[in-house]
Amino acid sequence: MSLVTTKQLYQLLPAGQPMAIGAFNVHNMEYTQAVVQAAEATRMPVILMLGEPMLEFAGLEMLSTIAKTAARRSSLPIAVTLDHGKKLDNIRRCIQLGISVMVDGSALPYEENVQLTRTVVEMAREAGVSVEGELGSLAGIEDVEAEAMEFFTDPDLAAEFAARTGIDSLAVAIGNCHGKYLRPPVLDMERLRRIREKVTVPIVLHGGSDLPPDMSREAIENGIRKFNVGTDLKYAFCQEMKRVLDQDPMPFQPPRTLGTAREAVYRVACQKIRLFQNGHTLTL
Ligand code: 13P
Repeated sequence: MSLVTTKQLYQLLPAGQPMAIGAFNVHNMEYTQAVVQAAEATRMPVILMLGEPMLEFAGLEMLSTIAKTAARRSSLPIAVTLDHGKKLDNIRRCIQLGISVMVDGSALPYEENVQLTRTVVEMAREAGVSVEGELGSLAGIEDVEAEAMEFFTDPDLAAEFAARTGIDSLAVAIGNCHGKYLRPPVLDMERLRRIREKVTVPIVLHGGSDLPPDMSREAIENGIRKFNVGTDLKYAFCQEMKRVLDQDPMPFQPPRTLGTAREAVYRVACQKIRLFQNGHTLTL
């Protein structure tokens, strides 16, 4: 169908049917194809996320061309976004290429986060792309619970942040973390409900891997509209590559390793998208 902005995808979500859009980190052509294929199989739009380190590794032109080509060739609306953009130069280049952006000023003092995010929103408005901001820091694996709580998103501040910056969606910290959870994950659903009551733009949950399905569903029921997933796809890709290489250390045909790894990513992406559909379907 087409390459769209993240805001355009949120507008497709029906009110009163709690479901979330799956957003997946894609690192190369195989991940990208697998995720778009999963979108086709489930008839659900997705967001392809390009992480800043990957853009620097692969080159923005290369990775964004793959993602945009896959989006344009799909029969569904698909968005492409920069994920955790911290450098204004990278953010500006993505906007110039018509890519939505997530600006991550969450480690900055509050006022600096507001200023950076507002600057990005102004740049994005001119280009007609969407902006996700972040308030609160994700718990790192080293955080102990009491310390981590300090960095959870404050509902009142979140409302002020969204109003002052003009963002299209807000990533929150409610106990979620990137990567594998070293302790059983606990999400502060009461805090999420209060954020939902006060913030009018769609709420985003980063760290969507390794969460129990019931917890993901509960987060959607309480207001999450975009779920970010990276690690679960990486595990699927690498484990499948390892399995094939353990069997045959010198497979001369790339489709043998990359092809089966792509299928593994496809299967996990399908599972995640179905989970985020939360029993609902989208009329496109
Ligand atoms: P996971 O790698 O934990 O799924 O998190 C991905 C993410 O939030 C990207 O922004």
